[in-house]
Amino acid sequence: MKSENSNFNINNVHHVAFRCRDAEQTRWFYEEVLGLKLAAALAFDHLSGTEKEMEYMHIFFEMKDGNYIAFFDDPHNAPSDFFKDMNGFDSHVAVEVSSMEEIENIKNKLSKVGWDSFLIDHEFVHSLYIFDPNGIQLEFTCRDKDHDQILDEDAKKAHKAIEDWTKKTRELKVETFGSEALDQREK
Ligand SMILES: [Fe+2]
Repeated sequence: MKSENSNFNINNVHHVAFRCRDAEQTRWFYEEVLGLKLAAALAFDHLSGTEKEMEYMHIFFEMKDGNYIAFFDDPHNAPSDFFKDMNGFDSHVAVEVSSMEEIENIKNKLSKVGWDSFLIDHEFVHSLYIFDPNGIQLEFTCRDKDHDQILDEDAKKAHKAIEDWTKKTRELKVETFGSEALDQREK
């Protein structure tokens, strides 16, 4: 259950940030293919907040709500085999669009530049998935008309679902991670 002191005003995501292979390739994809605004391209010669010399670029793309997807182009430290398609379970970013028509438009635009995509119907949302040029899974998602109703029902069952899941998977996790790591609640 929510603890009493957890009422901070955390409003929204300001930005999510990933490593990119190349700022220009990433700009092409996000600005020219997906139509986001290139909001900033900041070239640094030292690590922010430190004296450490480091050449890298930090770029930001702005979405309609004023939030950002950001990237670091850090060619001196990026492992050459880093940019493989990620497992979406490891991480992915879902951006929201307002209609299924928009999903179809994005799918067609991607197909024109030879980019594969696939659709999954999650009932409360309907999503189109791709991997960007850096291997990051991007999900374009559209809310179902019953989105709020479906999630309202899910929210009622959510704490119990985690309780049941914990019982079911605890033994395996103790084997994998150890109980000390699982029960850690303070650093
Ligand atoms: Fe997702």
